[in-house]
Amino acid sequence: MSAGVGIRRFHRGVSMAFTLAVIGNFVARAQGSGNPPDWVTYAPLPPLALLLLTGLFLFVQPYLRRPAVRRAPSAQGLPPA
Ligand code: HEM
Repeated sequence: MSAGVGIRRFHRGVSMAFTLAVIGNFVARAQGSGNPPDWVTYAPLPPLALLLLTGLFLFVQPYLRRPAVRRAPSAQGLPPA
């Protein structure tokens, strides 16, 4: 398994943790008993920080590939010469 695949899987897994933390905030606030505890309010931030770092890696990954691979005719959908 390449590093990129592992990071993509990690990004996907952490996105679920982030989503649950955000839903938890909505549920806690819907109780109507004032602000929830700080740890609930800030729970989405650590997964969001991980998403930002891994997401930026996923974003730049295609541009980091070796130029020789990008120049290959088959990589552009053209038949090999
Ligand atoms: C915080 C900044 C974030 C950045 C910079 C970022 C960036 C990216 C990038 C570049 C990709 C790859 C797209 C592709 O090439 O197909 C990706 C995939 C994805 N992102 Fe993010 N993302 C961020 C936050 C989030 C959040 C908040 C969520 C959901 C709560 C999320 C969920 C996903 C999922 C599910 C994928 C698909 C992963 C897969 O292919 O299995 N991301 N993200």
